Amino acid sequence: MIAETKTEISFWEHYKKVWPYIKPYKFRAILAILLAIPVGALDAVIAWSLKPFMDVVLIEKKTEITLYLPLLIVLFTTIQGFLTYTTIYLNSWVGTKITHDLKRALYQKLLSLETSFYDKNNSGTVVQRFSTDADTACTGLLDNFRLFVSRFFSSLSLIGVLIYNSWQLSIIAIIVLVCALLPLSQVRRRIKGVISKSVTEASTIVKNYNETFSGNQTIASYNLQESAYNKFDNTLKNLFKLSMKMIQRTGWMTPMMHIAVSIGIGGVIGYGSYLITTGTITSGNFVSFITALIMLYGPIKSIGKNFSNVQVSFLAIERISDILDIEPTIYDKENAKEIKGVEKQIEFKNVWFEYKEGTPVLKGVNFKARKGTTTALVGNSGGGKSTIVNLIPRFYDVLKGEISIDGVNIKDIKLKSLRENISVVFQDNFLFDGTVRENILLGKKGATEEEINQALKMAFLDDFVSALDNGLDSEIGERGAQLSGGQKQRLAIARAFIKDAPIVILDEATSALDNKAEAVVQKAIENLMKDRTVFVIAHRLSTVQNANNILVVNDGVIVEEGSHETLMKDSKGAYLSLYNAQFKSKTVKKK
Ligand SMILES: Nc1ncnc2c1ncn2[C@@H]1O[C@H](COP(=O)(O)OP(=O)(O)O)[C@@H](O)[C@H]1O
Ligand SMILES: [Mg+2]
Repeated sequence: MIAETKTEISFWEHYKKVWPYIKPYKFRAILAILLAIPVGALDAVIAWSLKPFMDVVLIEKKTEITLYLPLLIVLFTTIQGFLTYTTIYLNSWVGTKITHDLKRALYQKLLSLETSFYDKNNSGTVVQRFSTDADTACTGLLDNFRLFVSRFFSSLSLIGVLIYNSWQLSIIAIIVLVCALLPLSQVRRRIKGVISKSVTEASTIVKNYNETFSGNQTIASYNLQESAYNKFDNTLKNLFKLSMKMIQRTGWMTPMMHIAVSIGIGGVIGYGSYLITTGTITSGNFVSFITALIMLYGPIKSIGKNFSNVQVSFLAIERISDILDIEPTIYDKENAKEIKGVEKQIEFKNVWFEYKEGTPVLKGVNFKARKGTTTALVGNSGGGKSTIVNLIPRFYDVLKGEISIDGVNIKDIKLKSLRENISVVFQDNFLFDGTVRENILLGKKGATEEEINQALKMAFLDDFVSALDNGLDSEIGERGAQLSGGQKQRLAIARAFIKDAPIVILDEATSALDNKAEAVVQKAIENLMKDRTVFVIAHRLSTVQNANNILVVNDGVIVEEGSHETLMKDSKGAYLSLYNAQFKSKTVKKK
């Protein structure tokens, strides 16, 4: 799992982490925030104008200000409206830009991570942490920050109106407000744990959808609808509990403030009546004061919400910076070399490997594969065959020992160059949503029509493709859903063929197929193996008999090595007993 920062990070440190992303847009961002100040401050105009209206018009019965007072109110409100639009527009512009930049950086990070990251994290976590969090972090942060600023200044200007009207009443009001705002400082600490759990549950939901999508046939055939539903239901129930917990921890703030404001209004009316009767303030002061106080309720109430949302965004930023801090463990060394194929040989020297610390899966693997030869790996399942071949393109790195190509440790070769030189065909190959052509071109960008046709021919796909309505431009569906197992396999072979890499790895490339399909795929594979340095893992021993060298892998070590003929001679050997076991099961089936 992605590590989470346990220590408290200060506002300053958050700020330092987001700053590089804000920096390119700093002027617009600052402008948006600055514009939010008058937007808030103009709220006070109406409350303030009530004082002259009351005192001059109602009491003194003079009417000259009725000429300009209504005009002023409309004018200021229009200005406020215009500024509001501008700041919302600017904010969304900056927010979306920053969010997208951040998503780009996160996606690049995702692409740079090695297989073991994908082994440990599920698809839901990835969607949540690499995409949703970026939205929460930036768009949420800027929006709420803008609202926070505008409401803060709205409050400030209304407080100004309060003080202008009566400093005595203002003291009561301000003391009450400060008491109401104090608990805000506790919000972040209180919500952090709840949010982190909610994010995990939300990613479980995304993972559930992904699994339902990819595993729909398994769900149908094992009648798993009910248990899948229950799992989903449970996650939602947990999320519900967490949402309610979140409300318990933040929802009391609004009513608390409501109560505090009403206490303030009560106190002000009581004391205010006394101040009017003693002539300390005018009734205009009083009405203007009460209006400002009531108007204060709105911004102060939402300041609480904006403030906790800003904290939610800060926590998202914390999670994002945890991700940006992940260092890929498999990367290019500074002086990494390029290679051009294999000159002499590929060698495994005392290679140890483990997926989980303390459980070695390979325990000292030694062998050599000369250029242009085929090395077959056989043995019981779980013995470590796939692990051995996955180390060659550095999907994982060895724990101890080394793998070298012509004496150069593969860790000293540029990853890009190493992988350019290797084609891999698995039992289950990933095809992308798109057309046949697009999937083949993944093997070689900008390949000519002739090269594509050649690859199709070599993969025995030409007849199939020419029978399709749109030929090469036919859609194959997500993960190649519209193709048969054999067709998918041959498309993967065509893709590998056009890549034309000197090293070829075939991991159970035919095991998923029936005999007839296998025969065709087998021919396609033989085409792919020609003149290349090949590593082949095959369940059926008939397919490995022609290999130059056969490695029998058992429990992480190579227990036997040699050609089919030599290995068959050892009457107590592991290869012979594997061979006999398969031969027997075949004869049993025939009966
Ligand atoms: N991604 C992984 N994470 C943890 N353990 C793994 C992973 N892949 C394989 N293993 C374990 O490593 C051992 C060797 O697996 P593998 O190389 O796939 O065997 P083979 O290909 O010979 O059937 C098995 O015990 C398997 O459970
Ligand atoms: Mg395997």
